Amino acid sequence: MEFQLKSGVLTAQKTACLVLGVYGKRKLPPLTAAIDKESNGYLTKILRRGDLTPEAGQTLLLQEVPGLRAERVLLVACGNRKEYDRTAYRKVLEAAVSVLQPSGATEALLALPTLVPESLDLATSLRDAVQIAEAQSYRYTATKKDDKAPKRPLKRLQLWLAEEEEQTAAQTVLRQEQAIAQGIAWTKDLANLPGNLCTPTYLAEQALALQKEFPDLRVEILEEDQMRELGMGALLSVARGSRQPPKLIVLDYPGAKGKPVVLVGKGLTFDAGGISLKPEKGMDEMKYDMSGAAAVLGTLRAALTMRLPLHLMGVIPSCENLPDGNANKPGDVVTSLSGQTIEVLNTDAEGRLILCDALTYCERFDPELVVDIATLTGACVVALGEQLAGLFTQDEDLAQALLQAGEKAEDPVWRMPLWEPYQSQLESPFADMANIGGKYGGAITAACFLARFTKHYPWAHLDIAGVAWKTGKEKGATGRPVGLLSQFLLDRCN
Ligand code: BES
Ligand code: MN
Ligand code: ZN
Repeated sequence: MEFQLKSGVLTAQKTACLVLGVYGKRKLPPLTAAIDKESNGYLTKILRRGDLTPEAGQTLLLQEVPGLRAERVLLVACGNRKEYDRTAYRKVLEAAVSVLQPSGATEALLALPTLVPESLDLATSLRDAVQIAEAQSYRYTATKKDDKAPKRPLKRLQLWLAEEEEQTAAQTVLRQEQAIAQGIAWTKDLANLPGNLCTPTYLAEQALALQKEFPDLRVEILEEDQMRELGMGALLSVARGSRQPPKLIVLDYPGAKGKPVVLVGKGLTFDAGGISLKPEKGMDEMKYDMSGAAAVLGTLRAALTMRLPLHLMGVIPSCENLPDGNANKPGDVVTSLSGQTIEVLNTDAEGRLILCDALTYCERFDPELVVDIATLTGACVVALGEQLAGLFTQDEDLAQALLQAGEKAEDPVWRMPLWEPYQSQLESPFADMANIGGKYGGAITAACFLARFTKHYPWAHLDIAGVAWKTGKEKGATGRPVGLLSQFLLDRCN
């Protein structure tokens, strides 16, 4: 979608659809009132009939409103003015875009001052507008014709601002948000792609394709032999049951001098559980077990498009977890790159096995900080549901930065404990640790496991098992937490 900033006399704007906010039953914000006047009271006349329900997100599409150069006018109810907040604003945007998409208008103009709550700053209001419009126009087409696509989809959104002076700041935000939206869409595409097509090799190819697009980026793919030589016994143990060769994908964007910020993404392109086989129900969804990897790639794309002045790296351990005669077995003991031994009590707790070697590998980059992103545990979904990702870290500054970025980007995380006493659940009589911690607190013990490999740099872990994709009617990848990560990086640059 194309976005364009506008200002100048609102009543004189030429557009296929002018989108205006209305408070209560028929309270008009000043600019909506100006349009009403221009149309000789047409809007108030219609509103008096009561066709627009006052609840935030209700809409009324009008054709041929007299006195205007707009072909259509879309009235959107914002609800009670005093209660109108960011949540309601987002509802209003969603409603507006979903009416515009099939309306036949390929372009529209949002009169932002009539739609944005008083308490909301310009940057956030633009951020939400871009992200919602882009999210609503995302379509998966890799393996399916898009039969529900509108014949004449919305192509351009004009965002009208009252103050000419706001334009420069707004333009910056707009460009950034479009870059982030592109990153999110790519993350969705990668995660939605089925496991037979999206293999570790495919992910590696995508990283190389990104390098082609952005020559500033350096990409290195470590093959199985190299990983064996290095001693990545934990990672390789997971890949044993698969015919697909594992890959360790390393991306390096030296956008500034200094230590890198490293993002590590779990890249299980399919997780059947291995010998500890998963039940059949919903197993197809384990194609999404590379959502962390997809988020790292999407965030790198966003950062590269924004040309962030930042040294940023991505590290993606990628393989499949399948049952096979050669697969990992419960009770096997493997030696990780760190030298620590691990008793594999459950082959389905494989994410931590590939991540621990990737996290140890990060030490060689002398990182400023490391954030890993992983669809790590079903327990995290039990704890937090599908709205909030779990955040685990002992670094207070990092915690605050991630929490704030999540809030800003409307891609929130919730802090979970990374508490020493839980570590004892990982004790094993046969190895330095077991790969599972027992029945309870599974998201925490998984984080505790990773903590044993991240002692040499500031580190945070995001468990995105609940938020990376939606199930049911709207089944599909969400692109989370690319919004959060991009905002986190932007904040670090300022
Ligand atoms: N990829 C799964 C976690 C998962 C489960 C993500 C459901 C999204 C939805 C992970 O590899 C896994 O299987 N974890 C096990 C760990 C257990 C064996 C300790 C789990 O959560 O059941
Ligand atoms: Mn698993
Ligand atoms: Zn998994």
